[in-house]
Amino acid sequence: MLQGFNEKNKDILVSINGKLVHRDEAKVSVFDSVVQGGDAVWEGLRVYNGRVFSLEEHLERLQNSAHALCFKEIPSNETIKKALFETLKANEMMDETHIRLTLTRGEKITSGMDPRLNQKGCTLIVLAEWKPPVYPPSITLATSTIRRNNPMFLDSKIHHNNLLNNILAKIDANNAGADAGIMLDMNGFVAEANGVNLFCIRKGVVLTPFADACLPGITRALILEICAENNIPYAEKNLSLVEFYTADEVFTTGTMGELTNVKEIDGREIMNKSKIERLEELKILFRAKTKVSGTPII
Ligand SMILES: Cc1ncc(COP(=O)(O)O)c(C=O)c1O
Repeated sequence: MLQGFNEKNKDILVSINGKLVHRDEAKVSVFDSVVQGGDAVWEGLRVYNGRVFSLEEHLERLQNSAHALCFKEIPSNETIKKALFETLKANEMMDETHIRLTLTRGEKITSGMDPRLNQKGCTLIVLAEWKPPVYPPSITLATSTIRRNNPMFLDSKIHHNNLLNNILAKIDANNAGADAGIMLDMNGFVAEANGVNLFCIRKGVVLTPFADACLPGITRALILEICAENNIPYAEKNLSLVEFYTADEVFTTGTMGELTNVKEIDGREIMNKSKIERLEELKILFRAKTKVSGTPII
């Protein structure tokens, strides 16, 4: 699955530190921390019906990630929201929009690793693009040799721009002819796929790995909330690949692709033996939330 260029994005305006510029002019300095060390945090958000979905949850994760990385002069949520809404309004984006929100440690006075070289405050980038959910109706997965970070190395609860291990997992998937790569944790249990969280459904029970070595996804949390609200049995637990191979249904979650069916993992077809169509039920409940909730663009 490869995204294409959308002509509608040809002349979009991008916000950099509150200044709106044409996409061709939207640049950061070669001294910026994101160039120097991938030293940045980010969020992917979606706009539905004039509202930014789960905005407060995304801002909380962004602020926590920046604080955990010891960023200084982190912009307030009010400042970030202002830049975000200004960007959406300038591009007349009220639906079918994906936002890539990036906060870097900022520009350095000279190249180097030391955060004390950052004396100009953070860099805030709001990149909003026309992008309806990008995944096809169902996808295939292949297990990667690359393990997902855990707190012993780099805590996956920080949503940072050091994406090389995820990118390597995606390369493994591309080479295997699959849409995404499954990343295991250090004990061999499934952590997540390279850019989305994973769920399996066994005999009607919705299961997902503990958020120990995966990003605690906002869509993932919402699915667990939907299960609780609707008396759908669910659990977070260690799950092996075999439990995914033999599940009745498997799906991915993420802001970019919402809920996506997985039809095959490592050459094993996912076969529903239970005849319970739980995933369709979850999709309907999720869509209902996107229709009514979110922060209005003001
Ligand atoms: C590695 C990874 N896992 C999962 C997700 C999905 O998270 P969310 O549901 O918050 O979009 C993302 C999204 O950025 C991601 O990068």
